[in-house]
Amino acid sequence: MFRDVRILDGTGAPAFDGDVVVDDGRITAVGDVSGSGDAAGATVIDGRGRVLAPGFVDTHTHDDGALLAHPGLEFKTSQGCTSLVIGNCGFSAMPSGGPALWASSGQEWNDLDGFRDALANNGGIAANAIALIGHNTMRAVAMGDDAKRAPTGAELDRMRGWVEQAMEQGACGFSTGLIYRPGRWSDTDEVIELTRPAAAHGGLYATHMRNEADRLLPAVEEAIRIGREAGCGVHISHHKAAGQPNWGKVVESLALVDQANASGGDVTLDVYPYTAGSGRMIEYFDLKNPSEELARVIRIASCPAFPGYEGRMLVDIAVETGETLADLVRRILTAERGDRTICIHFIIDEADIEANLRHPQMMIGSDGIPDLKGKPHPRLFGTMPRVLAEYVRNRNVLTLEEAVRRMTSLSCDRFGLVGRGRVAEGMWADLVLFDPDRIADTATYDDPKQESVGVDCVVVNGTVVFDHGTHTGARPGALLHYREESRA
Ligand code: ZN
Ligand code: CU
Repeated sequence: MFRDVRILDGTGAPAFDGDVVVDDGRITAVGDVSGSGDAAGATVIDGRGRVLAPGFVDTHTHDDGALLAHPGLEFKTSQGCTSLVIGNCGFSAMPSGGPALWASSGQEWNDLDGFRDALANNGGIAANAIALIGHNTMRAVAMGDDAKRAPTGAELDRMRGWVEQAMEQGACGFSTGLIYRPGRWSDTDEVIELTRPAAAHGGLYATHMRNEADRLLPAVEEAIRIGREAGCGVHISHHKAAGQPNWGKVVESLALVDQANASGGDVTLDVYPYTAGSGRMIEYFDLKNPSEELARVIRIASCPAFPGYEGRMLVDIAVETGETLADLVRRILTAERGDRTICIHFIIDEADIEANLRHPQMMIGSDGIPDLKGKPHPRLFGTMPRVLAEYVRNRNVLTLEEAVRRMTSLSCDRFGLVGRGRVAEGMWADLVLFDPDRIADTATYDDPKQESVGVDCVVVNGTVVFDHGTHTGARPGALLHYREESRA
């Protein structure tokens, strides 16, 4: 049990003092329970001066492969995360993880149930997860990587079938990444057709929109239209206005969301608390005419072709080699394994992050890329503590209660994590104990693989996975079923 803690129940209600008793995976009592819970053998955690909250939900992850490759999920549990939404931006473990994912466990699968079995055979996972099925992955399997055309009727049927099957096996929805290959070659009607089976199961359409820069607003309109025509809830991923000329547009974009919600729509969003994005560098450049403007704000995260470039800005490398930025971009991306280069691009305005965080439907999603080689974007290790340190404690953009609500009950309700996201009797014991005066991210762009400070204890399904800086090695998590109360 947790004794003498300040309880933030996850609903946004004011904190109150009390004890929380956990038994057999669940919260069995909340409040003044002195006298009970001291049964012989019961672990008592003294929480004086600490806040106990529901475990945080990272609503935007690319941890599908990490569930196998790094099943301890240390970079997430050390932030207080107890559940992760996987399968974002159109990339998922289903219908087929493909050789890259299989390689990490030596197993193969063809659907969500198969992936669940693979996780179990691999010894389980430290945190819970809930899956989206991804458009890019499906399209690559059904049509090939390079199909710059609409699907045939048969191809569309096959993809629709996969969405249907994933929903039956517990997925929370369908995701797109419409700037990426091969999804970028789809039109709106294809996406609407594939969203329908998700809608039929009450699931979500989660989208990395077609454009996050000069055509942000039409892209938001497209997302809203897809939701309306398919009858599906829409979740906009990592909402931002990319590139200095577009800064400030998130205000208009959020107004479109509000308008849609006021007229019967159902749209939510997430954001990460950093001014840089990150992804596979090859997706952002036209090799025939690489944008120097973009190249100027790029730093290399990981680069198997040129490990020496990791952690460096392209502009600095170019000065050293005497190349133009365009030539440097081309040389990196056309090298052997150059297409695997992950970059970090500084494209977001601080004021936009604050505007995003002030929106009541805004959740927190790290978008972290769990490539632990090189220097990954610090959001992988720091997202949740950074919101609480920088935007709650330092800048007062959100109250602690409201920030925790966005990371817990709001996210659990949206992504169908039933019985989670609140500190209340009967709920699953997914909990984080932290020091509200000290919690902070320590991961930086120069030194990104640093666990946060101020997180004392993290409990998943009643089992401690992180205890004062130590990962216990327990793997009590489960790949959950959408809107089902049971653990797995
Ligand atoms: Zn994305
Ligand atoms: Cu993403």
